[in-house]
Amino acid sequence: RVLGVDSSTQSTKALLFDAADGTLLEQRQAPHPDGTEVDPRAWDEAFATAAAPLLAGARAAAVGGQQHGMICLDQRGEVVRPALLWNDVRSAPQAVELIKELGGPAECARRTGSVLVQSITSTKLRWLRDNEPEAAEQTAAVLLPHDYLTWRLQSDPEKLITDRSDASGTGYFSPALNGWDPELATMALGHEPRLPEILAPNAVAGQTRDGILLGAGAGDNAAAALGLGLRPGQVLISLGTSGVATTVAERPVADESGMVAGFADATGRWLPIAVTLNCARILQLAARLLDVDHAGLSSLALAAPPGANGLTLLPYLDGERTPNRPDAHGTLQGLTSASSREDLARAAIEAMLCSVADAVAALDAATGSSTREVLMVGGATRSPAVRELAPAILQLAVSLPEDGEYVARGAARQAAWALAGTDAPPDWPQPSVQTFTAEPTPEVLAAYRTLRDRTEDWGTRGTDRQAR
Ligand code: XUL
Repeated sequence: RVLGVDSSTQSTKALLFDAADGTLLEQRQAPHPDGTEVDPRAWDEAFATAAAPLLAGARAAAVGGQQHGMICLDQRGEVVRPALLWNDVRSAPQAVELIKELGGPAECARRTGSVLVQSITSTKLRWLRDNEPEAAEQTAAVLLPHDYLTWRLQSDPEKLITDRSDASGTGYFSPALNGWDPELATMALGHEPRLPEILAPNAVAGQTRDGILLGAGAGDNAAAALGLGLRPGQVLISLGTSGVATTVAERPVADESGMVAGFADATGRWLPIAVTLNCARILQLAARLLDVDHAGLSSLALAAPPGANGLTLLPYLDGERTPNRPDAHGTLQGLTSASSREDLARAAIEAMLCSVADAVAALDAATGSSTREVLMVGGATRSPAVRELAPAILQLAVSLPEDGEYVARGAARQAAWALAGTDAPPDWPQPSVQTFTAEPTPEVLAAYRTLRDRTEDWGTRGTDRQAR
């Protein structure tokens, strides 16, 4: 038996699997506090509730986690300040500054794999240096959320471990070296912190005090790809709080447009990825404004025609990362006295899917391939309107894997891999999928893109909105 843990933004999910064939045996869950700044000890508590009871029955365990969060430890291993999470936007100016210091977006992408945005750990370290110099000085080691939990599980507290997938989202990982570029961490923080050792995906990271073997763990997106058995040529779209489009690549990708981050995966390959900040939250907002639940929103949307009678929503609510418009807000265009609640519901769902279509297009451009096969996961896929509209707007067939916790499954598969000590991960069956097709509606995406381009300089930090 192997345990896979998903320490996500909202909760800890722990799933126990049969190591040989990936059969799910048991699962538990515990919530995390809200907010973009969280005391990591809250994750320990959630772990104790959700995962500890299952850990006793496992031979090996691994943790997948939300990427990029900055956890600072002092000399004694105490947490210096609450973690700043991936969705905390305060370090946007520091991202701009670091890109400049690195010689511009192209050089930054070449050196770190990505054009830095506020989600990335190094920008948070720079924010700390600028705004809380004492905390920065006390920082002796920097961990990511999944590393922190692996460390807390270790019998040897001196062992700090991470893996390439999460390391590659820090801004101080070098795709060329396939390892740390410590100079970049020093540049951000003001001194060189201790960084966790980067292990190969099938390596043994240590063991718990009860002798349960630990895998290296992974960032959540890489863990999900491993849990789904994502193959090169397939694009994985995840419709969660944030939207994700990603694919497995044989070579690293450095996209100087900044739309695609060049992360590593959890199998030794690469995982170019486009992440939007506004995804399922668009549907939450629309449901609240229309005073309906998600089923109600779906029914309203399906009662309006494609294009929502000319109503177009650009959904960059409290800032967006892809495209990088940290100061943007949403824009609703085409409202008339005849506009209906149905139109508004439709515009919201179309907006979410058009934004994801842009992420897929960016991925294609960065990898030089064209997407043919789409796997779609995440809470928003439960909406019948999303299932019906996704293939129309993406203009592709869309396959929905059966409901499952794929991040935790990927972590568990990694634990089984470390336990087996083989070169390739254990052969767990691919999830069964249901495939949706629809008549393409290119005009909906075209209207969205026109609005997107017309508002190009709205909400980009540094522009003078008053002058418009
Ligand atoms: C990836 C990212 C998010 C978090 C969510 O770059 O910021 O997908 O990993 O947990």
